[in-house]
This record gives sequence, C-alpha cells and structure tokens, in this order.
Amino acid sequence: ALARARQAIAEHARLVADFPKPGIAFKDLTPVLADPVGLSSVVTALTHGCTEVDLVAGIDARGFLLGGAVARELNVGVLAVRKGGKLPPPVHSVTYDLEYGTASLEIPASDIDIAGQRVLLVDDVLATGGTAVAAADLLARAGAHVVGVAVIMELDGLPGRATITEGLGAHVPVHA
Ligand code: PRP
Ligand code: MG
Repeated sequence: ALARARQAIAEHARLVADFPKPGIAFKDLTPVLADPVGLSSVVTALTHGCTEVDLVAGIDARGFLLGGAVARELNVGVLAVRKGGKLPPPVHSVTYDLEYGTASLEIPASDIDIAGQRVLLVDDVLATGGTAVAAADLLARAGAHVVGVAVIMELDGLPGRATITEGLGAHVPVHA
C-alpha cells in the first residue's frame, strides 16, 4: 500500500507555485483523493503500523476526508476536531498560534466519553506541527491520549515532526 500510495501521489498531486503566498509551493492532494486507487492506497497507508487504537480523530477540514475512511479501515469510530465556533456548547477548546494571529480547535465536552481512549490523529499535511499538537492538547482535556499521528505528507524544511516529538513525546510515532 505504501508504494501504491507514493505512486498515486507522484501521479496525481498538483504542485502550485506561489500559493497561498509568493515563494510557497502548495501541494494540492485533491486529485489524489478523487482517484479511486489514490484514495484507497492513501487510506490504507495511513493505517500502516497502527495497532491498539480506540478512536480516530480527523482535523478540520481536510483531515475529515481521511479520518472517516481510516476509522472504517481500523473498525473504530471517528471524532471530528472542529475549527472554533462550529459546535454547540459545551465544548473543549484550545487556542494556538498561527504565523499571523491565532486559531482555535474544539470538540464536544458532553455526550461522548473518550476518557482513556487511544487516539490516532489524522490529517492531510504536516507543516509546522502546530495544528497537530493543539489537537492532541484538546483531546487530552477530554482525557484521551494521542498514540500516533498519521498524515499523507510532511513538508520539507518545516519542524512538524520535531514539534510533535517535543509536544507529545518521542513515544508518539509520526507516520507520513
Ligand atoms: C492545513 C493542513 C493541516 C495544517 C498543517 O490546514 O490541512 O491541517 O494546515 O499546518 P501546521 O502543521 O503548520 O499546523 P488549514 O488550517 O490550512 O485548513 P483546512 O484543512 O481547513 O484547509
Ligand atoms: Mg487542515
């Protein structure tokens, strides 16, 4: 599955120069996920080496596409980690720094009990790692703990992996 996923990405990912800002090369995975072999190979690859997971958490918005599919593959449930302001109260909320300004992530604080659950965090891309660490902090507020981070790709030259290791500990594997 890993080789098939790599091939599908090489074949279908679209590289867009100077988006969203000059000098940034944006990797658009939309065509990979729209391709049947692309979606299935990527979803299977995301589960690679993944054992003993009770719940998948998919990060708003592009992580949603993957989280549900990965959860089905692992036969566990899925939890949407939403951007701030989308969920009715009560919520658990974390605020984290972006390059310019701040953002927040939320999950419900009632009617789901995820205390003690081992969570696989799923997203499309790992850049600075700020989103993933914030999501893990959020899940910790509900008593759950992240046991792995799975993304399709990590961006070169950014400290995403190191940020996760620093924030969550070296025992949390990052699979990209
Ligand atoms: C992108 C990407 C990851 C995050 C990675 O999402 O989908 O979720 O940034 O960045 P980081 O590692 O530096 O935190 P974005 O917030 O652009 O929104 P979207 O998924 O809703 O498109
Ligand atoms: Mg995102």
